[in-house]
Amino acid sequence: MIEWFKRLFGIGTNSLNADKLMVNIILFGPPGSGKGTQAAKLVEKYGFLHISTGDLFRYEMGNDTPLGLEAKSFIEKGELVPDSITIGMLKNKVEANPDVKGYIFDGFPRTIDQSKALDELMAGLGQSINLLIALSVDDEEIISRILQRGKTSGRADDNDESIIRNRINVYNENTRQVYDYYDAKKVSQSVDGLGGIEDIFARLTSVIDQV
Ligand code: C5P
Ligand code: MG
Repeated sequence: MIEWFKRLFGIGTNSLNADKLMVNIILFGPPGSGKGTQAAKLVEKYGFLHISTGDLFRYEMGNDTPLGLEAKSFIEKGELVPDSITIGMLKNKVEANPDVKGYIFDGFPRTIDQSKALDELMAGLGQSINLLIALSVDDEEIISRILQRGKTSGRADDNDESIIRNRINVYNENTRQVYDYYDAKKVSQSVDGLGGIEDIFARLTSVIDQV
């Protein structure tokens, strides 16, 4: 009754977004599957806010913040940063940008607990995840792409094949099941992540335009 009353009169933190039409997408897939590249193109086309937790960590590391220093010890081994740290950082970023057409989450969620936290965060905004799109790319292609990227990315975790393999293992052990978690909510879809950037982009937009 109270919730209904608040909604009717537009009172409360949720009222701004509750009925707002937003599209919230998780761009999913293993490291090196093209999430960052495609997210940038999707932002251009749809005007969504791109939130890459990897980029946020690299920004913090570049500025030697306490958060960056803490994350660094995990990232340089290709391990996951603990959920509490990652979720807190993501939450801050979303809450600092409430007035957007939608979010594209890239590199998050990477665990089931991160997925649950994201759903709660979205629910608090009167929103939900509308779509998870997985870019499927095989391991050997991933390794060669990341090593190639490492020549210019300046990322220590892109330059060492054993770290790259560890990132793939972490993906298989902790992250892959996020697809099934959202599949149970009927929002997961998979797209072929091989081929030219424009071809892959066309596959993504045809999925998004159906939502
Ligand atoms: O997403 P991206 O591949 O750029 O992430 C780089 C690294 O940042 C990951 O290998 C991992 O160490 C860390 N990371 C994480 N949890 C996330 C996103 C990134 O631990 N949700
Ligand atoms: Mg990325």
